[in-house]
Amino acid sequence: MKYNIKLGAPEKSRTPCIVTGVFEEGILSPTAKKLDKASGGYINKVIKRGDLKGEKNESLLLHDIEGISATRILLVGLGSKSAFKESEFSEAIEFFVRKLKAMRLRSALVCIVEVAKFKRTISWKGQKLVESTENCLYEFQNLKERTKRKNSYLKSVDVLASKEEMNSLSEGIKKGLALSMGVKKAKDLGNLPGNICTPQYLANQAKELAKKYKAISTKIMEEKEIETLGMGAFMSVTKGSDQPGKFIIISYKGSTAKGPVHAVVGKGITFDTGGISLKPGAGMQEMIWDMCGAAAAFGTVLAAAESKLPINLVVVLAAAENMPSGSASRPGDIVKSMSGQTVEILNTDAEGRLVLCDALTYVERFKPETVIDVATLTGACVVALGSHASAMYSNDNELAKDLTKSGENSLDRVWQMPLWKEYQSQINSRFADMANIGGREAGSITAACFLSRFAEKYRWAHLDVAGTAFNGSGSKKGATGRPVPLLFDYLSNIASSE
Ligand code: BES
Ligand code: MN
Ligand code: ZN
Repeated sequence: MKYNIKLGAPEKSRTPCIVTGVFEEGILSPTAKKLDKASGGYINKVIKRGDLKGEKNESLLLHDIEGISATRILLVGLGSKSAFKESEFSEAIEFFVRKLKAMRLRSALVCIVEVAKFKRTISWKGQKLVESTENCLYEFQNLKERTKRKNSYLKSVDVLASKEEMNSLSEGIKKGLALSMGVKKAKDLGNLPGNICTPQYLANQAKELAKKYKAISTKIMEEKEIETLGMGAFMSVTKGSDQPGKFIIISYKGSTAKGPVHAVVGKGITFDTGGISLKPGAGMQEMIWDMCGAAAAFGTVLAAAESKLPINLVVVLAAAENMPSGSASRPGDIVKSMSGQTVEILNTDAEGRLVLCDALTYVERFKPETVIDVATLTGACVVALGSHASAMYSNDNELAKDLTKSGENSLDRVWQMPLWKEYQSQINSRFADMANIGGREAGSITAACFLSRFAEKYRWAHLDVAGTAFNGSGSKKGATGRPVPLLFDYLSNIASSE
């Protein structure tokens, strides 16, 4: 999608459609006011008639209006003026982009930034406009052969701005485009099914990424090397599958060689059957998204490279398939992790923490300033927080604060959960250093407790994105691309402070 900034009088714009807003009680946006004036009071007339109340998710399409050069005007309800905040802004955009898409228009002049009176920079608004538009236009149709259709409509969006807003707006649009590329990649990888998106596929994708961006290099670690490094926890998961597991290391150097390194680790279970502790059949197809943490890590490094963030980033994808087979781990097995700590596998379905713990030990070698792992780790997290916030755990208050702030800023929110030592005893084991499950209570927390034991050497945060990274069914079925916006905001802030 192309975004062009437009200055000047909207009533004179020769566009297929002007999009602008109306608040409740018929309060017109500045553009709607201008259009009303140019059309001799036509807009106010239809509003007075009651054809548009200005409520959310309400719209009115007007055609061929005298005094207006555009072919159409799409009036969009914005809800109450005082309640029009950040999330209403992006919801309104997604709403009218859906309309424009259904109308099959090739372009439109969007006059919406002017109504966003909340305290955000113009750049923020431009970025959000792009993000929401791209989010809404996304379709996963790569695997449809019979009805393959590209988005041949909506080729460009013109954004109305004032002269003073131009620079900031264009900067925001640029950031929005880079971020949206990362989000799209995270969605695409997430949505590919387990038979296509295997660990090998992810490795190939990483190699492609390194070809595309000079600042990116990749290293693929095969099972033999993984075994040699002593990653018994990772191996215990991958050994049940015919698909060889991979450790995929993607390095992005956007800063000087000596600059600090930040690490992002992603859970890349390309399909999670549960292993010998087999999951029930109903709903198991949702486990194609069990690599969404890895997909988000991948999307984040892509977005960082695309926007040339001046930081150094190491991304590690722990990619494996969790299968039941004659070579799979059994409940009760005890394995030794790369850290030297032993783990009693009481449930083979708690595999995410097993692949992640070795990845967390592995990243020590980069001496990272911060490490963030991202994982669709527990069903308990979905029960606790639903789909609005990712669960966040950290051993460092500063980092937790930064992530919380980035969540608010990107509208990709996290909620900090406790890592109190009292929870740690739930994963005590009679036979090994720890068990891989902690019982029925506080399942997301005990999973985080498990990981914390492998993250003592650096500032670390864990994001449980089981509820936020994908929608398992319904009209919005598919990967969401979260938490790429959160991580991108976090890394952008680091870039401007280092
Ligand atoms: N991948 C699942 C967690 C999950 C569940 C993600 C639902 C997204 C939606 C994970 O590997 C898992 O199976 N966790 C178990 C842990 C339990 C055995 C302690 C769970 O949550 O049931
Ligand atoms: Mn599992
Ligand atoms: Zn899993």
